Amino acid sequence: MLRSYPILLIGVLILFLVCTKTTAFGKELYEAPSSEHKVKDAMKTMQEDLEKLEDAVLKDDFKQAVRLANEIDEANHYVCNLDLSRTELSKQEQNKFKQLRNDMHKQTDALRLAVDTDSPDMVLEESHKLRGTCENCHQVFKKK
Ligand code: HEC
Repeated sequence: MLRSYPILLIGVLILFLVCTKTTAFGKELYEAPSSEHKVKDAMKTMQEDLEKLEDAVLKDDFKQAVRLANEIDEANHYVCNLDLSRTELSKQEQNKFKQLRNDMHKQTDALRLAVDTDSPDMVLEESHKLRGTCENCHQVFKKK
């Protein structure tokens, strides 16, 4: 009985390693170490511009909102053009990441159409949906 303990321990250890390796959480998505700040900057731009855009439409400043929506779209492009084959993500994770960034991009397009309507309600509805697409990816890929 006593002799099976080391085997059990090794079993648990292997299980632990397998489990931690298969989660996408916190894996680096940088093509190169130098792209780390670029990814973070693109994310921060999207975050800040989304807040500014919501403020702008509440103040009826649609000209500013259009400018911000275009800036968000540009930051989207950076994320969408990341070469995932040069990251730590597995093939399966890369496909999931691609799907999630496409969802974001489609929703950014919807937001850009909405700012042309001059309707704050429509813009806020689309920006809320866009925040949802950000959150969907963060739940899977962003470090806690
Ligand atoms: C396809 C995946 C994905 C989508 C979509 C996405 N993000 Fe991220 N985001 C990440 C990952 C992964 C990180 C963590 C980056 C890191 O620190 O390594 C992150 C980090 C961030 C950060 C923290 C940046 C920092 O300085 O550490 C902010 C803010 C952010 N995202 C905002 C957004 C906003 C706003 C959107 C939507 C408009 C968005 N993200 C959409 C994957 C995504």
